[in-house]
Amino acid sequence: MQRILFVCLGNICRSPTAEAVLRGMALREGVQLVVDSAGTAAYHAGESPDPRTCSSAAQRGYDMQGQFARQVRVEDFRDFDFVFAMDRQNLLELQKLKAGQAGVNPELFLQVYGGMGINEVPDPYYGGQWGFENVLDLLEDACARFLKALKMANITANKSLLEMNTLAINANARYLAEAECMTDVHEIMAFAKRESLPLFVMGGGSNLILADEIQGVVLRYVAQQVQVLKEDDLSVVIRVDAGVMWHQLVMHTLAANWYGLENLALIPGTAGAAPVQNIGAYGVEVESFIELVEGLDLLTGELRTYSHDECKFAYRDSIFKHALRDKFLITAVQMRLSKSAAPVLSYAPLADRAKTVPGVSPVELAQWVIELRSSKLPDPAVLPNAGSFFKNPVLTQDQYQDLKTRFPDLPAYPSGEAYKVPAAWLIDRMGLKGERIGLVEVNRLQPLVLINHGGNGADVLHAAHEIQRKILQQFSVELEIEPQTLP
Ligand code: EPU
Repeated sequence: MQRILFVCLGNICRSPTAEAVLRGMALREGVQLVVDSAGTAAYHAGESPDPRTCSSAAQRGYDMQGQFARQVRVEDFRDFDFVFAMDRQNLLELQKLKAGQAGVNPELFLQVYGGMGINEVPDPYYGGQWGFENVLDLLEDACARFLKALKMANITANKSLLEMNTLAINANARYLAEAECMTDVHEIMAFAKRESLPLFVMGGGSNLILADEIQGVVLRYVAQQVQVLKEDDLSVVIRVDAGVMWHQLVMHTLAANWYGLENLALIPGTAGAAPVQNIGAYGVEVESFIELVEGLDLLTGELRTYSHDECKFAYRDSIFKHALRDKFLITAVQMRLSKSAAPVLSYAPLADRAKTVPGVSPVELAQWVIELRSSKLPDPAVLPNAGSFFKNPVLTQDQYQDLKTRFPDLPAYPSGEAYKVPAAWLIDRMGLKGERIGLVEVNRLQPLVLINHGGNGADVLHAAHEIQRKILQQFSVELEIEPQTLP
């Protein structure tokens, strides 16, 4: 539940009116909020609001009974999600009080939520009745806008993202906002703009390192439809909303007899995140199926699409990780899947198993992949991890030959002119399997996976940097961290 504190000088006219207006509006609209008010000065502590304020508010249906003035406290910055000042002087006093302490930054309410070109609520204390009506007009207008932003965009303040990232890093987002449609997204963009906060996009959180607290708005697009756009005898083009869970999509397509995604079964995360790192496993990459990525430019709010070529897909890479990072929200992915089965068995353990089962069906293949993944990769729900933590490095011919001379048992997969070397082998060969670096453990079964035992982003990154340093020292190979970091 959101907690809002309004602050003026004496807490008998403007801020208690704001409190009563917002509480009344929220009650009418069924939004649960905690609303309070306070004064920067203690002159009227313990007093009821000014009777002129009470009668004007009562005429508009706002009840101020039970409200008593109090002075603002430094704990308020921690106890409330929003602290709103009525005028600039109040804001200045609040900023002085907070001075470097933890908690929410106070804001000038009308500057952020007012719509009449007026940034301050004037003090009506020494004026006539008109002043009190004016205060109500200004506050009703701004409270309606504030409430709408909170309600429509499903915005939560100071939200822990612990449950939303598979490394189980306990970092807070200043705001978490979940969008189900474009209107929500626009509302969230407007909210971030009004609050002068940056927007960050998050998917399933399975390929993510929360490096620190996020002083911004974390946006999740949670729509979950799968639609058929085109279909002929050979193939089908589907449009998958970004919020669909990837593994569920794989199972859904197999049940519909649409083939291609079977090797990508059990990959955690959302369909919207799949193109970002061009997810891949067991000889297949998602880019082979992607025709179009749909989304929204987070700077202009315009809708736009990226064709397969414009996505600049590469090994665990795309334009969305670089030029479009935090600038583009993926809302849907269009994929072409085949109606005839063509199992990809290039990965040795799958090929070996297929020898004993000729004519393996895509559903069986998906089952093998599920078994293989489950036997090698720890379940993030039990042992928090983000899958492969490093990319497999790609070495030039010369680099590869040098290393092969020093380590004749080095495995490698030719990739064009170059050689892809398993990072798991390098880490294994360094004797790091099962090692702990602080709260982070190099997984025993698959050393490319790091397990987080309660560390924060800095702990995880420290362990990763230690591994990178050791590998560089021993093999002269630079390991690149694969998951994305936020912020
Ligand atoms: N290896 C060792 N010791 C080990 C484990 C592996 O030396 O303890 C060596 C072996 O030579 C083995 C090789 O590493 O043949 C490759 O291991 P594995 O087949 O498990 O694959 P990987 O290269 O470690 C990549 C992907 C995985 C994907 C698998 C299967 C990357 C960064 N990782 O891992 O993707 O599931 O292949 O295709 O390319 C992910 O991206 O999060 C991910 C899990």
